[in-house]
Amino acid sequence: MKPKIICHIISSVDGRLLNDRWTEPFDGTPTSAPLQVYAAIGRELDTDAWMFGKNTVRAVFSYKWGVTGHAIPSDCPAVFVGERRSKRMFIVADPEADIYFTSLVLRGDNILVIIGRNVTEEYLAHLREKRISYVIVDDATDLRTGLEIVGREFGIRSVSVQGGGILNGALLADGLIDELSLVIYPGIDGLSGVPSIFEYVGGATDRPAAGQHL
Ligand SMILES: NC(=O)c1ccc[n+]([C@@H]2O[C@H](COP(=O)([O-])OP(=O)(O)OC[C@H]3O[C@@H](n4cnc5c(N)ncnc54)[C@H](OP(=O)(O)O)[C@@H]3O)[C@@H](O)[C@H]2O)c1
Repeated sequence: MKPKIICHIISSVDGRLLNDRWTEPFDGTPTSAPLQVYAAIGRELDTDAWMFGKNTVRAVFSYKWGVTGHAIPSDCPAVFVGERRSKRMFIVADPEADIYFTSLVLRGDNILVIIGRNVTEEYLAHLREKRISYVIVDDATDLRTGLEIVGREFGIRSVSVQGGGILNGALLADGLIDELSLVIYPGIDGLSGVPSIFEYVGGATDRPAAGQHL
C-alpha cells in the first residue's frame, strides 16, 4: 500500500520556494524564525520518512556520478537494506542514478534511494559500500510504484515530501498527495519564473490538480 503522503513546504506569500530571495518580515521578526516554525511542524508531523526532490538533494551532494558502467542482470535483487539506525528515513527518487553520496545520512536520517533498471552495477556497489538502502523499480519517475515498494519493504506508512516544486508537481499530477501542510513566510519574492510550490512539467492544457481536494 502507498504510504500516506503529506506535502510539507514553506513559501513566500507569492508561493515561491527560494528562501534566500524573500523580503524580511514586516515587524522585525528574524528571517530564521518562520523557518524554525516550519522545521518544528515538520517534526510534529512525525512521519516514518521524509523526501526531497533530486535537485534539492543535489544541492547537498553536489558531485555527479558517471552514468557509464555495466547493466544490471535481470535477476538482480530489487531491494537492499543498508544502515537503518535513524527513527525516520530520508527518501530520494533518482531517475538517472547519478547522485554521488558522500554520507549515508542526510540531516541525521539514513538514506533510501529509489532507482530504475537503468542503474549500473557500479552505482549499486557505490550505494552498498555506503550502506545506503535502495529499491529498484522499472522506472524511477513512476513514483506510485516506488513509494508502494518502499511502504511494503521498509514498513514506511507516512512520508512528508518537502519539495522542491518539480517533485511536488509530479506527485500532485499522479494523485499521490494526501495532505498539504503549507507554511506561509511573511515576505515576498516577486520574480516570474522562480520555483513555486507546485511545478508540474507539462503542456499548457494540463491541469495536474484537477479533481483533487487536499
Ligand atoms: N521552500 C522550501 O520549502 C523548499 C523545499 C525544497 C526545495 N526548495 C528549493 O527548491 C529548489 C529545487 O526545486 P526543483 O523544483 O528545481 O527540484 P526538485 O523538485 O528538488 O527536483 C526535481 C528533479 O527531480 C527529477 N524528477 C523529475 N520528475 C521526477 C519524477 N517523476 N520522479 C522523481 N524525480 C523526478 C528531475 O531530475 P533531472 O532533471 O536530473 O532529471 C528534476 O529536475 C532548490 O533551490 C531548493 O532550495 C525549497
